[in-house]
Amino acid sequence: MQTSVTTIERFILDQEDRYPEATGELSNLLYDIALASKIIAAAIRRAGLVNILGKAGHQNVQGEEQQKLDVFANETIKNCLQHTGRVCAMGSEEDEDIIPVPPEYAAGKYAVLFDPLDGSSNIDVNSAVGTIFSIYRRVSMHGRGTSSDVLQPGCKQVAAGYIMYGSSTMLVYTTGQGAHGFTLDPTIGEFLLSHPRIVTPRVGTYYSVNESNFHRWDIEMQTAVRGLKGDLSDGVSPKNSRYIGSLVGDFHRNLVAGGIFLYPADTKNPKGKLRLLYEASPMAFIAEQAEGSATDGVQRILDIMPTDLHQRTPLVIGSREDVGYVADTLRRTAARASGPVSQPAL
Ligand code: AHG
Ligand code: MN
Ligand code: MN
Repeated sequence: MQTSVTTIERFILDQEDRYPEATGELSNLLYDIALASKIIAAAIRRAGLVNILGKAGHQNVQGEEQQKLDVFANETIKNCLQHTGRVCAMGSEEDEDIIPVPPEYAAGKYAVLFDPLDGSSNIDVNSAVGTIFSIYRRVSMHGRGTSSDVLQPGCKQVAAGYIMYGSSTMLVYTTGQGAHGFTLDPTIGEFLLSHPRIVTPRVGTYYSVNESNFHRWDIEMQTAVRGLKGDLSDGVSPKNSRYIGSLVGDFHRNLVAGGIFLYPADTKNPKGKLRLLYEASPMAFIAEQAEGSATDGVQRILDIMPTDLHQRTPLVIGSREDVGYVADTLRRTAARASGPVSQPAL
């Protein structure tokens, strides 16, 4: 029987030891998020049983509506973070405005942004969902946080990560010293190190995109996706398709196995569908730490300066050479479209 394991707590402490000036606040903030994710994981595990139990035992007597899981996840994260004195403000996909910590609690030095439940439409069909988080050091000087604390470019993140509630619950995070993965052992309630220093393959096996949007993309993106699946024989290795409609699930598979995820702009979502601050930036930080990359097609995600909390962005993320191939194809196809009209041969 194995007796030597690395818990997430020990791993974070070991990393922190390398920085004599560290106060331990960021480590504690990461534990707070890990705790929230365990509570959410437990609720998700029972999600399919709620109706069954309700019907059999007639237990829903309060007349209370069952809380939707994304509301539950949102409240759980806020409750785990707001009273600790480590956070000055939060931003959530489920809340319209910035969430300053309530006045009865001390304001700390970090701002946290999160997508409490990503891929929530997958809940009803028992597929993978996740939570995504992103942490910035505050830039305002004192008091409750302001929008300047949450509207920072991704390159300023001090930590980011996601939790995937799949066949097992996994937490992957980075503080800028590589991306590391932990698997929840439900028997002891601890995240144990299972994927130290993840390095994603330079060239991937998979491409992941909602191809039902093909006719809504511009010609440049149509060309790039045709190239990824090997229609153009232009040098890129042809890929296999995988898409489940949950960014966390699709991203995680590609991170481990190698691949590229795309959510391009289309005529229905002219700025893309995914949110820069809760989805694209944290995943981009992890991708880069795993030696992959992330762009909006051409521009590096981590360089985008947000102007709005719920700002959307196109996203192309994953194995470095594949993301580069898409950028090259978009540029090449655009140049060809706007170049001089070739003269018909006489
Ligand atoms: P959320 O559940 O947080 O709103 O996110 C859903 C997102 C993302 O997880 C996924 O990649 C994408 O929406 C799927 O969109 P389509 O159904 O348009 O493919
Ligand atoms: Mn989401
Ligand atoms: Mn969500």
